[in-house]
Amino acid sequence: MSRQQYDRLFQTLDAVCEGENDAIALMATIAHELYAAFEEFNWVGFYRNVGDQILKIGPYQGSHGCLTIPFSKGVCGKCARERTAQNVPDISQVPDHIACSHSTKSELVVPILDHNGDLIAVLDIDSDTTAAFDEVDETNLVLLNKYFQGKIR
Ligand code: SME
Repeated sequence: MSRQQYDRLFQTLDAVCEGENDAIALMATIAHELYAAFEEFNWVGFYRNVGDQILKIGPYQGSHGCLTIPFSKGVCGKCARERTAQNVPDISQVPDHIACSHSTKSELVVPILDHNGDLIAVLDIDSDTTAAFDEVDETNLVLLNKYFQGKIR
């Protein structure tokens, strides 16, 4: 996706998220705005860190998402364990990928941290296109963390 698209996205999010500090309200709004802005994003959603090394589904857009993901499993689990962005250009090459939709070809998962660096959630974006995500996506999607840290850029 292009830098210009992300610039527009952040303009919208800065306006609608201003002053909001409720994590679920932010997740719902961000999931909607991402899904609406990018045609290539076929599933957008958050898996929340609920403790005991477990992620639970949060606000999302797209078809049914699985409800629970342990930190030990899948791309989301790896992101939660390592707290680094996971860009998977071809999910068929990841043996423990958790398939929620048969049409998914690639995925990008980024960690969402609070101001103490603790993991709030992971943001999972799936595409029906192979290698849909590049460094522009990774860099910009990581910036979404600012909404969860009480900062507006
Ligand atoms: N593919 C993810 C699971 C979540 S769904 O795709 C919505 C994973 O492997 O962690």
